[in-house]
Amino acid sequence: MTYRVEQLNENHNLANFRCGNNGLDDWLHDHARTATGQGTRTYVLLADDGRVVGYFAVAPHTIDGDALSGRTGRGAPRHIPAILLAKLALADDLHGERLGSELLIVALDTTVEAARRAGGKLVVVDAIDDTAADFYLHHEFETVPGNPHRLVRKLSAVARALGQPWP
Ligand SMILES: CC(C)(COP(=O)(O)OP(=O)(O)OC[C@H]1O[C@@H](n2cnc3c(N)ncnc32)[C@H](O)[C@@H]1OP(=O)(O)O)[C@@H](O)C(=O)NCCC(=O)NCCS
Repeated sequence: MTYRVEQLNENHNLANFRCGNNGLDDWLHDHARTATGQGTRTYVLLADDGRVVGYFAVAPHTIDGDALSGRTGRGAPRHIPAILLAKLALADDLHGERLGSELLIVALDTTVEAARRAGGKLVVVDAIDDTAADFYLHHEFETVPGNPHRLVRKLSAVARALGQPWP
């Protein structure tokens, strides 16, 4: 099976997507198209037959420098330009095959590309639960002090890991 990623459009059928988390399913079914009009960009992972088997959503963001740890926040302005990885989910019948990591790489690649053109220092995620937070910790994000579900990673480090130029 091969997979491809496309920016959400009116031809994608979202209704049957199930990832095991109702909030993430409902957001794709009911809010992703509206969110596009409000500034979020959603990308879907498609199987060969056109079935939507994953998605992620990104949006411009700022994060308060005071909320970061010393190492990440040192010397930072009060409002740090960032990219929010607002959602990421994979169809539940495909969990455990590392496709989630592949999707995360595409999502991070997208954030780096956006930040190289428009600016941004950090990628920020709000994990839906402890398990999701662990997934991001495993992928070299760090939690911000006082909020174990909010995690950040420097875009310069992401670019380096992906072999992309920066900035
Ligand atoms: C989280 C999710 C995207 C992971 O995708 P997946 O393809 O099932 O991930 P895999 O089990 O194949 O794991 C890929 C890698 O991440 C690691 N991983 C996966 N889940 C993890 C967790 N909860 N904690 C720590 N590491 C985790 C695996 O160990 C593996 O690492 P490796 O490549 O170094 O061996 C997927 O399970 C999902 O969509 N879950 C429901 C929605 C959700 O929780 N989204 C999170 C964003 S808020």
